[in-house]
Amino acid sequence: MKSPLQSSGFVAQSEIGVGDLKQASDLGEFEFTYISNLMHEVSGVFLDTHKIPMIQVRLAKRIADLKLEGFRAYISYLRAHPEEREYLINSLTTHKTDFFRESEHFDYLKDVLLPKIVSTERSKKLRVWSAACSSGEEVYTLGIVLSEFFQSQPDLAGWDYKILGTDIDTSVVARASEGVYSSDVVHVIRPDLLHKYFQRGTGKNAGFYKVGKDLRDVVKFRTHNLLEDLSDFGDLRFDVTFLRNVLIYFKDETRETVIRRMWESLKPHGHLFVGHSEPLQGIDHQFRNVKASVYSKS
Ligand SMILES: C[S@@+](CC[C@H](N)C(=O)[O-])C[C@H]1O[C@@H](n2cnc3c(N)ncnc32)[C@H](O)[C@@H]1O
Repeated sequence: MKSPLQSSGFVAQSEIGVGDLKQASDLGEFEFTYISNLMHEVSGVFLDTHKIPMIQVRLAKRIADLKLEGFRAYISYLRAHPEEREYLINSLTTHKTDFFRESEHFDYLKDVLLPKIVSTERSKKLRVWSAACSSGEEVYTLGIVLSEFFQSQPDLAGWDYKILGTDIDTSVVARASEGVYSSDVVHVIRPDLLHKYFQRGTGKNAGFYKVGKDLRDVVKFRTHNLLEDLSDFGDLRFDVTFLRNVLIYFKDETRETVIRRMWESLKPHGHLFVGHSEPLQGIDHQFRNVKASVYSKS
């Protein structure tokens, strides 16, 4: 009988270059287990055997570029070059995201939570964290929603609001900081908001949109691993944290650790948003569930 590794360890040949086939073919049980354990240890991401084709496709080019024989040689390379872990994490994390993704969250923020916060928060400061922000779409969406809200009434003019976007993947954080998106990515943004907050590219930049200064001024990006404690944030605590579509990649034990950190990251009465398919059921936590996929620290 074939082991799960043998039966699931093939990738459609149309998905990889012919030159990569040799390298892609030697991902055996030892190599898969090594890569899966290492990813789990450094990022919390759990890769089961269904991810074998993805691992083969995403690492085959790297193995070819490094002129290595195959996955066995790549494991030796990883052992000898700890800095290669960054490439591994960047390659094997999943970055799907969108502007205004799961838009009910932004409606709830604008219609329920922000009015509540401005009526109770004396400091006139609002801090929001997008804790696995991928290439920045979630962060800039928050920037648009907050900017529109605070510009909507003259008495809110003095508010200081900022959004921090973090991710473990250095390459998506760099893309997020750049803030340049193609027209097929920004098409979900309402035309008046797109016009107000983005610059349309011309000439060689035609077909691309760049985030404008007003939005840029309220966001900041940096790398952060959710497995790490919050010491690099100093005293910074958040009113609202978005932790969406990342818990699904973790096992329960890791989820519990990360949710505990989210609790610590929030001010008293702060709110946590998770992805719609990631309710905190089955996880030991102290949050109050205020609405589907929205939790409160009170
Ligand atoms: C599917 S994206 C979600 C993006 C966005 N939050 C959304 O909902 O559209 C998941 C992100 O989680 C990041 N990630 C995975 N493990 C992480 C970890 N340990 N620490 C920080 N980010 C992590 C990945 O790099 C990826 O960009």
